[in-house]
Amino acid sequence: MLHSLIVAGLAATAAADCGRDFLKSATAAYVAAQKAGQSAAVSALGTSANFIFLENNQVTDFKSSTLSKPIKIDVDRSIHDTVQCATFTELIAASNPHPYVIHTRMVFGADHKAALIESIVTDQGDWLFNATGTLELNRPEKWDPIPKEKQDSRAVVQSLGDAYFNRFGNVSVTVPWGAPCYRLEGGLPARGELKGDDCVMVWPSTIIVPYRRYIVDEDLGAVDVFVGFPGLDRTQGQLPMPDSHLFRVEGGKIKYCHTASACVKEGCGLNGTTFGRRDLGLKYRPKPLEF
Ligand SMILES: *[C@@H]1O[C@H](CO)[C@@H](O)[C@H](O)[C@H]1NC(C)=O
Ligand SMILES: *[C@@H]1O[C@H](CO)[C@@H](O)[C@H](O)[C@H]1NC(C)=O
Ligand SMILES: *[C@@H]1O[C@H](CO)[C@@H](O)[C@H](O)[C@H]1NC(C)=O
Repeated sequence: MLHSLIVAGLAATAAADCGRDFLKSATAAYVAAQKAGQSAAVSALGTSANFIFLENNQVTDFKSSTLSKPIKIDVDRSIHDTVQCATFTELIAASNPHPYVIHTRMVFGADHKAALIESIVTDQGDWLFNATGTLELNRPEKWDPIPKEKQDSRAVVQSLGDAYFNRFGNVSVTVPWGAPCYRLEGGLPARGELKGDDCVMVWPSTIIVPYRRYIVDEDLGAVDVFVGFPGLDRTQGQLPMPDSHLFRVEGGKIKYCHTASACVKEGCGLNGTTFGRRDLGLKYRPKPLEF
């Protein structure tokens, strides 16, 4: 059911092409709505047929979603995909009483109505979650628009996101990566080793990462990939968990990578306080992907 709805939503928009100004107004409306806890401003974006709103992979009622709570946001960053008529927004709320890191993608139809809005809402107890750490690492990063003559093609930008995930299941895949050589995983910098201009990261190589949904913005050299990440929550076996990775690409190499990964159980089944305790009562607990 979920699958067919999402596929319908995506199919409806595959041919849509729309302007950056429209997409920017949509992400601005989304960020303002989350700050104010005014979910109605976001639900109003999506009145097209087959519209679906997901939070942590669950069909969600706007009125009881995280969007209905006012959240003090320290950093918001959006990318805009004019080919797919889609957007991605990263929200970091470290100084909110309840810290969050939220990744949201919105897909619009040719009628400029949202067909799909989905959020990965992470908080204490999710994979390496630390909003303060996320904020500190994020702040010095530069995500300025890339001059036209220096931009990588859409295909190249997207292929680097794919290379990253392909490498989890294939040790022979090369992932072009440059300085500063860390991935911001939850709130921790997972650092690689810089050899010359190349960042060498250590990876597992037995994990096939399915359900990839892309948002690409060549102007920013950015691709975000929503995936299902198998084995992330040890209490769920190999079921794919809701996960999003945002990449900044410059000169054909990954420069930055930010992750948001949601677990069903606090601590992701790692039997410790590694990721802190969760007692914060999210209504929509993350569910494994199954579409
Ligand atoms: C979160 O990150 C901040 C900033 O790096 C650090 O000071 C703090 O100890 C971290 N908290 C946990 C629980 O790891
Ligand atoms: C693994 O990656 C290499 C290098 O890109 C590629 O040639 C090979 O076909 C891949 N293997 C599988 C099973 O996908
Ligand atoms: C966590 O503890 C449970 C119960 O003791 C055990 O079955 C499980 O294998 C442990 N998981 C990990 C990842 O250590």
